[in-house]
Amino acid sequence: MDAFDYRDGDLFAEDVPLARIAARVGTPAYVYSAGAMRASYRELTGALDGLNVTVCYAMKANDNLAVVRTFAELGAGADVVSGGELAGALAAGVPAGKIVFAGVGKTREEMAQAIEAGIWQFNVESEPELVALSEVAGARGAEAVVALRVNPDVDAKTHAKITTGKKENKFGISIERAHEVYRLAASLPGIRPEAVAMHIGSQLTQIEPYEHAFARMADLAKALISDGLPIRRLDLGGGIGIAYQGETPPSPQSYAEVVRRTVGGLGLELICEPGRSLVGNAGVLLAAVIYVKDEGKRFVILDAAMNDLIRPALYDAWHDIVPVRAPVPGAATSQADVVGPICESGDVLGLGRDLPPLDAGDLIAIRSAGAYSAVMASNYNSRPLAPEVLVDGDRFAVVRPRQSVAEMIGEAQQPEWES
Ligand code: LLP
Repeated sequence: MDAFDYRDGDLFAEDVPLARIAARVGTPAYVYSAGAMRASYRELTGALDGLNVTVCYAMKANDNLAVVRTFAELGAGADVVSGGELAGALAAGVPAGKIVFAGVGKTREEMAQAIEAGIWQFNVESEPELVALSEVAGARGAEAVVALRVNPDVDAKTHAKITTGKKENKFGISIERAHEVYRLAASLPGIRPEAVAMHIGSQLTQIEPYEHAFARMADLAKALISDGLPIRRLDLGGGIGIAYQGETPPSPQSYAEVVRRTVGGLGLELICEPGRSLVGNAGVLLAAVIYVKDEGKRFVILDAAMNDLIRPALYDAWHDIVPVRAPVPGAATSQADVVGPICESGDVLGLGRDLPPLDAGDLIAIRSAGAYSAVMASNYNSRPLAPEVLVDGDRFAVVRPRQSVAEMIGEAQQPEWES
């Protein structure tokens, strides 16, 4: 489902013209479609139908509570990676019993918070973490349900900065050592090693890496079970890619088919942790042109910048950039670099884009900004965080207001020696 479509030349989010949102909320602003999020969730769960699987939405992709609630209402759990995300998931109505807690550097405070909340599962990434969790749980007379995150040494064939399942990456316990660490886990007080977890990377556009990694996990799970370990669940991670620029990522159906074939017959519970594939194409970053500068090369300078959407600067990522008012059919286009106002040359949103003539005040939509966009925003150059808007049919609501300059600069905090 593409929730962002032109009607009579105006770009809409579901049944709401983006120009109306810009007039009410201002720009820049992130605009999300609840309908598109529900559709992608239902497509995935529909494809996985018949498997004993819980979808734990990876909140890091978009942690807006209205977004998390949209999935919670459909029955999703959550994959969290910090005490902050855990608090957000609970506040959005995700039952503690459907929350998995991942990440290489959980602090003891975060572990205690998660034990008190009664989460479902800790995905543990190292022996020192396992020992710390045993101590934190033991001190509370609690038992932490644990998956070891195993690093299957499979190349996800994605961008180097978002590959996680290779030996040289910081994530997980190597598959060769996993069995021995499971035995250690089983011997520690306060630890119940019930599951095996993996996640090989993000924005996967091919199915084969999943196939290899799931097959390795299936072998490991069988070996652990025959060794008497109480394994009852596999956490398959996330990572299904989306089309930013014509990529053809695995469909929910082909993903589900591989899950069925590799791990579906083991009689184990399954978890998957999708983030981007549920929200990425359900959002846009709405911006306005401030100036067009043309001295032989055209620069379109927007009021959105790398602090609002860092993916092009950080990963050389492509996001489609389209005018909110469609050009008249047959209008000439020419190339432009679409940039923000931040004082560095890396502040680009798109280079060499074919765009119609544009003027100051024209509205622009930067597409595929539902995932890893608002969550990665910063106040660089003292730019307040942009608001987030959720559209549902013909309604829209601000689900996070624009940060004010006063909030951003905070109370004056002079050291006492400066009067
Ligand atoms: N599970 C674990 C353990 C993860 O580390 C991640 C993402 C996910 C699930 C969700 O993956 P997804 O389905 O969204 O691909 N900022 C980068 C992406 C970082 C992904 C980090 N881990 C980007 O903008 O491309």
